[in-house]
Amino acid sequence: MGPLAQPTGSQKTHDTAPTARLEMTGINVAFGGVLALTDVSLTVEPGQVHGLIGPNGAGKTTLFNVACGLVRPTSGRIVWRDRELARLRPDKLTSMGIARTLQGVGLFPGMTVLENVMVGAHRHAKAGFLSALLALPTSDKDERLLRERAMRALTELGAEAYAGRYPGSLPYPVQKRVALARALVSEPELLLLDEPASGLSEDEMTELGELILSVTGRMSVLLVEHHMDLVMRVCDRITVLDSGKQIAAGTPAEVQANPAVTEAYLGDAVDVEADAAELTHADGGRTHG
Ligand SMILES: Nc1ncnc2c1ncn2[C@@H]1O[C@H](COP(=O)(O)OP(=O)(O)OP(=O)(O)O)[C@@H](O)[C@H]1O
Ligand SMILES: [Mg+2]
Repeated sequence: MGPLAQPTGSQKTHDTAPTARLEMTGINVAFGGVLALTDVSLTVEPGQVHGLIGPNGAGKTTLFNVACGLVRPTSGRIVWRDRELARLRPDKLTSMGIARTLQGVGLFPGMTVLENVMVGAHRHAKAGFLSALLALPTSDKDERLLRERAMRALTELGAEAYAGRYPGSLPYPVQKRVALARALVSEPELLLLDEPASGLSEDEMTELGELILSVTGRMSVLLVEHHMDLVMRVCDRITVLDSGKQIAAGTPAEVQANPAVTEAYLGDAVDVEADAAELTHADGGRTHG
């Protein structure tokens, strides 16, 4: 329950364009003797969507975990909001303006959908959600604002009808939307998404793409994703990893035209044909600038 009891920090709203930049430079990660990442650099520019792709085992989740503090790099430099950090700390992420969704769903089964999203908003609650949970005296006004904020996030995700339901009773795609609402409700400056499209239908994936594009006026996004159509449609920049090394980086069009990328996917034993075909056929057309 630690994070819930934290001071709520400064209340930052984003009336202006995003300015925060995440820079990861020369990142090395070793698990025992295995080099999971070798000298990888990636910068998520303010307000941009940065895609992170590569075959299975390439190191995407490892780099994602460096960005959300779950993995400490063996060496390398991390700069967030112009400050160099020894590492990012998972329990400090929300107060630092970073939110994430992990690969599964990760909702609290014993809380309603609304309560789950309210947990994500704790940074903005003055009296704290913990005291609300414990039924301690708290400000009715803060409680009401927190509720309203959480409902707005659910509405933005089209999940307001499920506010009173328990996550376990909901279809997987709805649970994923709730998890996204919980990440968005803290109004992060950086949103980290690990395979948000897994388990979604084509239509849901299209909606997810629109949603990602719609938040870029307020925040930047780091997107780890296997679905190439989605990646090519929403990303401003893409970094491609293979065997822990960066093999390409650039705009969707540049990455698609890079033979090293197609080769890496063709060398991958799993999902080869699907991924390579998607990579070849995705149009890379951009609908936002
Ligand atoms: N905690 C760990 N301990 C040991 N090795 C690990 C650990 N996490 C990842 N690895 C290894 O590091 C390499 C990169 O794994 P990672 O999960 O980052 O790949 P990925 O690109 O996310 O793959 P996928 O597309 O399958 O999710 C793999 O060889 C993996 O086995
Ligand atoms: Mg992974």
